[in-house]
Amino acid sequence: MKISTHTYAEDHAASLADPAAFWAEQARQIQWFREPVETLSTDENGLYRWFRGGKLNTCYLALDYHVAHGRADQTALIYDSPVTRTQARYTYAELLDRTARFAGGLHDLGVVAGDRVIIYMPNTPEAVVAMLACARLGAVHSVVFGGFAPHELAVRIDDAQPRVIIAASGGLELEKVIHYKPLLDAAIEQAEYKPAHTVIFQRPFAPADMQLGRDVDYQQLLQAPPAECVPVDATDPLYILYTSGTTGKPKGVVRDNGGHAVALRYSMAAIYGLEPGETIFTASDIGWAVGHSYIVYGPLLAGCTTILFEGKPVRTPDAGTFWRVAAEHDARVMFTAPTAIRAIKKEDPDGQLARSYDLSRLRYLFLAGERCDPATYHWVADILGVPVIDHWWQTESGWPMLATLTGLDAMGPPRPGSAGHPVPGYDVQILDEAGQPVPAGTTGLVAVQLPLPPGCLPTLWQDDARFQRSYLDTFPGYYLSGDGGYQDADGYFFIMGRVDDVINVAGHRLSTGEMEELLAAHPAVAECAVLGIACDLRGQRPVGLVVLKDGQTIGEEQLEQELISLIREQIGAVASFRNALIVKRLPKTRSGKILRKTLRHLADGEEFTVPSTIDDPLILDEIRERLQERGVGLAFSQE
Ligand code: COA
Ligand code: AMP
Repeated sequence: MKISTHTYAEDHAASLADPAAFWAEQARQIQWFREPVETLSTDENGLYRWFRGGKLNTCYLALDYHVAHGRADQTALIYDSPVTRTQARYTYAELLDRTARFAGGLHDLGVVAGDRVIIYMPNTPEAVVAMLACARLGAVHSVVFGGFAPHELAVRIDDAQPRVIIAASGGLELEKVIHYKPLLDAAIEQAEYKPAHTVIFQRPFAPADMQLGRDVDYQQLLQAPPAECVPVDATDPLYILYTSGTTGKPKGVVRDNGGHAVALRYSMAAIYGLEPGETIFTASDIGWAVGHSYIVYGPLLAGCTTILFEGKPVRTPDAGTFWRVAAEHDARVMFTAPTAIRAIKKEDPDGQLARSYDLSRLRYLFLAGERCDPATYHWVADILGVPVIDHWWQTESGWPMLATLTGLDAMGPPRPGSAGHPVPGYDVQILDEAGQPVPAGTTGLVAVQLPLPPGCLPTLWQDDARFQRSYLDTFPGYYLSGDGGYQDADGYFFIMGRVDDVINVAGHRLSTGEMEELLAAHPAVAECAVLGIACDLRGQRPVGLVVLKDGQTIGEEQLEQELISLIREQIGAVASFRNALIVKRLPKTRSGKILRKTLRHLADGEEFTVPSTIDDPLILDEIRERLQERGVGLAFSQE
């Protein structure tokens, strides 16, 4: 479906020439309780805000609006859970009914507009209902990915200070039962801030003991009388989503109600080319930005049907599970991470399983989370026979910044390895270290000229100063993405990876800085570096290089086990931290900065020039020997 009579180039140019006019037009596509007074303005700290003065409710737009406009009996959500062998369908009317009652239950627990509610649940309809119920009340939800350990949850509890935490009693990781309740209890124990209540969704395979007074059964809340939608300001937060920064303290990315609704609604048609009533299958987790935007809010705001998948791309029960889900539920668009495709390719190299399903109605496969390497791109494009569209975005943006827009005319076809062109609203530029644009073909820092379009983070939760410092101060007038990349002579952008201490492990964004802080706290460790080295399956994985304190005699094997346990306990198994090597010294510049990029190139077997600022080049030879001895890194192993 084409949504504009203009070409992509015309729409993109119009969105930059007069952002307020462009987005005011898009804002007319949603129903406001009160129209915005000003499309684009700045607040008292000089930060941009969209749709000031507007009143709306995101849950109303996602559910009530559709029920009132002829979609009551259309399926809103299909839950497909091979791990629990369950399938369920919810119409818009059913989802609204559950959400309104659950919101009523939350209200009875004292939750009011502006309160924070943490949700710690796997991909279940109950989690989606919890998110929408918060939106209904004007409460601010913060979903914490289930793979995070209690410490990570505790940090988020202290930052968000939730009145209520909603958790599942457990989740299933393949055959392994993950008991969430003890993790939740440990997190609350560790946190300084204590929530008034916890709401527990009991799952039959992981029954949880309930704590008298604090724990309330999820089902009990559904007995409450339904709550009405509370109109909120466009600039009020809808949710906080924590993401890894370069230190141990995650960043609380804020999403506001107005900009989010307008941007997502636009993206569903302009980028994904979906019409109301059509089905999208986003294979991600609701704990990530992709899950928030394209499992939950985007599809529902657009009146589409969304598929909520609880499982893995492989072994649930086989590497054909994604294709089975897409075929069985008639998905027109699929969206996942390249790492999931690599996992499928490993188990079904000839794509036999994909070919055994009727995917003739699938129009596109979208990929994001990390760069899609051309080999994976060609493999999946050949098997599916539909355009494969790599598109670039971040938790911070909440929706794509670079893409091939299927709803606009006259865009070049996707190019393997490239994330496409700037989406209308985004003035993406490649800058050098001095903040000057670089010529085509030259690699630099990926930045977006301000203002960012609606939907992007207006700030970090209660920390304008950190927002300013982290993203805006380096190059005044620009948002700095933290990624490096280049633009080719035809205008295609290539995003090549992070230039900071953030790594991407199987689509999970993690901080090597945080891991270093944890390793450095071990009593035997004098100093350390954690590198994100290349990994065939996960894209990247962390490896620790550790220098022992003088006089320490601990063996490498024992230390490695202790450090692996430390990261598992403090961050979670998702970090996939599996190697720690003892080294004599770490290479540094003469001013004392560890040369992490050089070490990464060394482990990955990439060509590099030894930096002229290195204090002692021989250290690199020592480390090369250690990596070789241990067979760690693509350069030294058969990974
Ligand atoms: N809850 C608890 N534990 C979790 C978890 C969760 N939600 N998610 C992952 N873990 C655990 C796993 O069980 C595993 O534990 P183990 O070391 O004890 O075996 C560990 O974290 C590593 O998980 P993962 O990297 O996911 O490995 P895997 O072998 O289970 O699966 C992939 C590999 C590639 C199939 C999987 O990572 C995947 O599907 N990635 C795509 C992610 C994605 O869609 N991201 C969204 C971006 S769009
Ligand atoms: P997250 O905030 O978890 O969504 O992770 C965002 C980061 O993932 C970005 O800063 C990039 O480093 C990486 N990323 C996401 N999508 C792409 C893509 N299409 N190509 C390259 N890198 C990507």
